[in-house]
Amino acid sequence: MTENIYPVFDQLLDRSAREELLEQKACCFWLTGLSGSGKTTVAKGLEKRLHQMGYLCMVLDGDNIRTGISKNLTFSAEDRTENIRRIAEVNRLMNDGGIITINSFVSPTKAIRSMAKEIIGPDSFNEVFINASLEACEERDVKGLYKKARAGEIKNFTGIDAPFEAPDPADLEVRTDQQTIEESVEDLLHFVLTRIKKSVS
Ligand code: ADX
Repeated sequence: MTENIYPVFDQLLDRSAREELLEQKACCFWLTGLSGSGKTTVAKGLEKRLHQMGYLCMVLDGDNIRTGISKNLTFSAEDRTENIRRIAEVNRLMNDGGIITINSFVSPTKAIRSMAKEIIGPDSFNEVFINASLEACEERDVKGLYKKARAGEIKNFTGIDAPFEAPDPADLEVRTDQQTIEESVEDLLHFVLTRIKKSVS
């Protein structure tokens, strides 16, 4: 319902004013990949490095989204779409607030990710494929969920009985099954810095 809603535009306090204050470009980094591929580990490593360098950023992941704003949602295709729609809207607000967002969500289909890109804005959206083979993720099985999915105790599990569509291609691909976490964070940091550079005025 957007009837009777009138946005007020304040030319003095727009996104670029906040970006200038923070001396950063407020982009969104969208990490997609299988459960257990290392998205959140890499996202948190990146956040720590950026914070140390003086950038204001925020990690959004299952821990702070599926326990809060999306806690009423399941893993059905419809609910995953709604989950990502809400997350994308949160990204848009945070980016408008000048904050760099780092997202860690399975976001399994091209359609879901392109919806996110559309909401967030193609200029702000950077897609990062955190790629580890299904075998590697299943081998790690950090949360024991693959075992449960194989046993039929969890339905619609991405990679087992629900699809994962790899990006074609992403803006950056990180092979977490072929390098250390530190190397993955460094690769991502290198890419991120080219997008968020502090403006020199
Ligand atoms: S998404 O598909 O809507 O983007 P999201 O990233 O929020 O998923 O949540 C995925 C996390 O929830 C996984 O890393 C895993 O820990 C857990 N999970 C629980 N059930 C499922 C499922 N059926 N499919 C995928 N992940 C699941």
